[in-house]
Amino acid sequence: MNGLIDHDELERFRTTIAVRIGLRFDDGKLGFLGNVLRRRLSDLGQTSDAYLDALEQRPSAAEISTLAGELTVCETYFFRNGEQFRALAEVALPERMRARRTPGELRLLSAGCASGEEAYSLAIVARETITDPAWDIRVRAIDINPIALAKAAAARYSPWALRDTPLSQQQKWFRPDGRDMRLDETVRRSVRIEAGNLVRDDPGLWQPASYDVIFCRNVLMYFAPEQMRLAIARIARSLAPGGFLFLGHAETLHGVSDAFYLHHTHSTFYYQLREGGRSVSPPAMSGFEIAAEPPRAPIAALGETWFETIRSATERVAALVPPEPVETIPRPGVAWDPAPVLDLLRRERFADALDTLRGRPPASVDDRDTLLLEAALLAHSGQLPAAEVACRRLIAIDAANAGAHYVLALCREHAGDLDGAGESDRTAVWLDPAFAMPRLHLGLLARRAGDPKAALRELKHALILLKREETSRILLFGGGFNREALVALCNSARQECEGRP
Ligand SMILES: C[S@@+](CC[C@H](N)C(=O)[O-])C[C@H]1O[C@@H](n2cnc3c(N)ncnc32)[C@H](O)[C@@H]1O
Repeated sequence: MNGLIDHDELERFRTTIAVRIGLRFDDGKLGFLGNVLRRRLSDLGQTSDAYLDALEQRPSAAEISTLAGELTVCETYFFRNGEQFRALAEVALPERMRARRTPGELRLLSAGCASGEEAYSLAIVARETITDPAWDIRVRAIDINPIALAKAAAARYSPWALRDTPLSQQQKWFRPDGRDMRLDETVRRSVRIEAGNLVRDDPGLWQPASYDVIFCRNVLMYFAPEQMRLAIARIARSLAPGGFLFLGHAETLHGVSDAFYLHHTHSTFYYQLREGGRSVSPPAMSGFEIAAEPPRAPIAALGETWFETIRSATERVAALVPPEPVETIPRPGVAWDPAPVLDLLRRERFADALDTLRGRPPASVDDRDTLLLEAALLAHSGQLPAAEVACRRLIAIDAANAGAHYVLALCREHAGDLDGAGESDRTAVWLDPAFAMPRLHLGLLARRAGDPKAALRELKHALILLKREETSRILLFGGGFNREALVALCNSARQECEGRP
């Protein structure tokens, strides 16, 4: 280990941080990221390869926690954005009590609680608003930063942390303790503080319909767009129908989820989950049930373009699978069910899938998942200009849709615009650092452009990502290749770039 970190290693580190913690670092922060990586390697006495391999494949909770301690921003204070706490007291809590009807339990979550000020502010407001002892108010607080969590557990704060707390509340809920202020013990005990990672699909944390109110403020603004989208999908799933979500002032759900109503009161805004709320999470196609991938033989032959390679895989499978009749007429009054389309997609009957998709009711015409499915099907069935129109329509309503940018890259490549293809792939990668397909495509484009070094870098990255890519995304974007086939293809392109037979 010589303390030098090359561009590829730094890029791997950046991607893994986005995947494991959610945080996105722009190019301007690469110097800072490099210093953190160097420090970790020196503290652990490891080579960058060994360290990055472990972080990518089986990171220990301790290492993620150490990195979070180095990389997260924990600025917070009591009653930050006081108008949101007034909206909580006067709108959200009364409405949730009405929704629960008989006195029982109300559950609040502070997601990304930092040193606890937000969670304790929630507990104080709940106590002051709900005085009937029949109500059991539970506040849960999670954060990934161990240093912040230790401070939260101690519940002892400098007067600066109370800079926006009215004097009456300071006197009621805090006691001076040396130069600090100590929080009232009953409030402290009413909040459960624990380590938690918003990026992990932790079933204990994200139980369906379990929270009445979630505060997740000034956390997701640091996330990679796709990680934000997935975190919002988890939040939507774990809020009770009609439950409330408060984000930071610089954060919005615009283009991320349409599962919420936006409220404007008390000079602030906040969200309420629609009854039967459905979160839109396009790249993972999370609302769709997808059958397991059927085992298939790996394919290593590469065509001239990635698109041609996909086409030949499609034709090969089409010749093997006999056509079956498919119901294309939706039943009136029944919400459109994408399962038959996905089943046809799984069997690589792209044209039939497209016909079925086109039989959908008009209400779903602008649905983002459906548009993305249409764009992917058009591309896979060879209708590239139409696929490009669908992609651009989707990007116009959802600019952060990584899947749409990837399919657009395929269309641009087919049109001979290799620069445009690379740019669209890079946008997809920027939006979702865990998305394997645009990396693979970038590698193949670089190989085609005669740049084996860049090709190798991208293909190596793609290989790592492919191993944990979601099955649904492989089905949607793999163009007829399953995971093993894509890995084999990636490996064969790599060998070719390395000049190996
Ligand atoms: C700026 S603070 C916000 C504190 C508080 N919510 C507020 O608005 O005052 C951001 C917090 O998010 C936490 N955080 C960042 N990534 C996280 C993740 N993946 N899971 C849980 N917490 C995370 C950080 O550790 C940090 O404490």
